Amino acid sequence: MFCRREFIIMCAMGVAGLWGWKTPGVAQTIKGGKEMYTAKDYSKLIGMEGFSENLLKIHFGLYHGYVTNTNKVLDTAAQLLKEDKTGTPEWAELHRRLGWEFNGMRLHEYYFENLGGKGQLMRDSKLAKKLAEDFGSYESWEKAFKAVGSMRGIGWAALYQDTSNGRLINFWINEHDTGHPAGGNPILIMDVFEHAFMPDYGTKRGDYITAFFKNINWAAVEGRLK
Ligand SMILES: [Fe+2]
Repeated sequence: MFCRREFIIMCAMGVAGLWGWKTPGVAQTIKGGKEMYTAKDYSKLIGMEGFSENLLKIHFGLYHGYVTNTNKVLDTAAQLLKEDKTGTPEWAELHRRLGWEFNGMRLHEYYFENLGGKGQLMRDSKLAKKLAEDFGSYESWEKAFKAVGSMRGIGWAALYQDTSNGRLINFWINEHDTGHPAGGNPILIMDVFEHAFMPDYGTKRGDYITAFFKNINWAAVEGRLK
């Protein structure tokens, strides 16, 4: 149900208290007073049609793990810098890991924040017109986006806006950190890691994608357009 990294993260969350890590969701500071990331509360999504409370609570827990670990990576890197240990394997591995933890945190925020809506995108809306312009029609974009989300593997389907020319492009993000367009503006983010759907849908990813589309908060999505 969970990839190995997520399993490790969940275990890490379990032992976090033993190591004195702070509880996610509570404002935290590192030594020196610099503010770190705080997990947001998405419990208002509980009750969405097609998403069980059990699934959402598992998902919120995983998200909190990414926030905790992003803070931990940044905090540890800051300590290594103070101790002049930047030439160490620990420094290198922390920075290799940062993109994975940070994007695991941020993508979940985009994902939860583009859920909780009802209804379809109005075809005369700014976003629908832009999708039609860049994909031929809204329907063509939806078909393409769903097809990206149906690809084998774990990751994300992401509609990005290329800020250099405003064009909307669908991307496959492998895991959390591979495939992001540099300078891209995230417009619609869909989690297709197995944990996002298997508790409710088993291997029927297509049914999950259908449920996802029924719950898109189109106002929030359109609000991201630049
Ligand atoms: Fe997820």
